[in-house]
Amino acid sequence: MHAPDQCPRPQNRKTAPPIVLLMVDELRARCVRREDGLFLLAWANDREAREQSFNRKNITVLQHRQWLRKILADPGQRSYLILKGRKKIGLVRFSQRTSREWEIHFNMNPRWRGKGLGRAFLRAGISRFQDEFPQVSLVAQVKPGNRRSHLCLAGNRFSLKSRNRHRTWWMTSPL
Ligand SMILES: CC(C)(COP(=O)(O)OP(=O)(O)OC[C@H]1O[C@@H](n2cnc3c(N)ncnc32)[C@H](O)[C@@H]1OP(=O)(O)O)[C@@H](O)C(=O)NCCC(=O)NCCS
Repeated sequence: MHAPDQCPRPQNRKTAPPIVLLMVDELRARCVRREDGLFLLAWANDREAREQSFNRKNITVLQHRQWLRKILADPGQRSYLILKGRKKIGLVRFSQRTSREWEIHFNMNPRWRGKGLGRAFLRAGISRFQDEFPQVSLVAQVKPGNRRSHLCLAGNRFSLKSRNRHRTWWMTSPL
């Protein structure tokens, strides 16, 4: 039995939508909660996650606590925990850049990486996000050498927008 989902109230809606847990390839997405903080910090400080981040410094408990509190209160952020049954697969997060464009960020639980779940994991988060924001474009910034991320984005209707030595930009068009 899962606790009720606690997504922020959708923008431009007076009442919250019914609780829906989206099924995608057996994966489902629920909104991140404050109590998810400890394992999210462990995933964020995992070696591969730091290597693939643009800021490679380790994150302290205090920084993480403040960050989590801020993003959960911010209407320009949506953060979803992707689950397979009771197993925690990873985090897919969206941050608003403009009224028409949001940026996607993602990090899998290290124990689930490299098992071929990446594309479906991302799809579960994107589908949930698009339930609320069907009309916006998504962008992603990824390090050029992050091959698995590039493949997961390409497999989710993202197209290459630009690239330089330091980062590759991917984007989708609105549905
Ligand atoms: C990026 C991430 C979500 C990918 O998920 P994953 O489960 O590890 O990836 P998968 O095993 O599904 O592999 C993804 C793709 O790469 C392919 N792949 C995996 N290993 C490969 C290798 N050594 N060489 C070539 N292709 C490879 C897979 O076949 C798959 O392609 P497909 O979807 O077309 O079948 C996950 O590794 C992760 O969270 N990494 C750390 C955080 C991170 O990099 N976040 C992104 C920051 S922008």
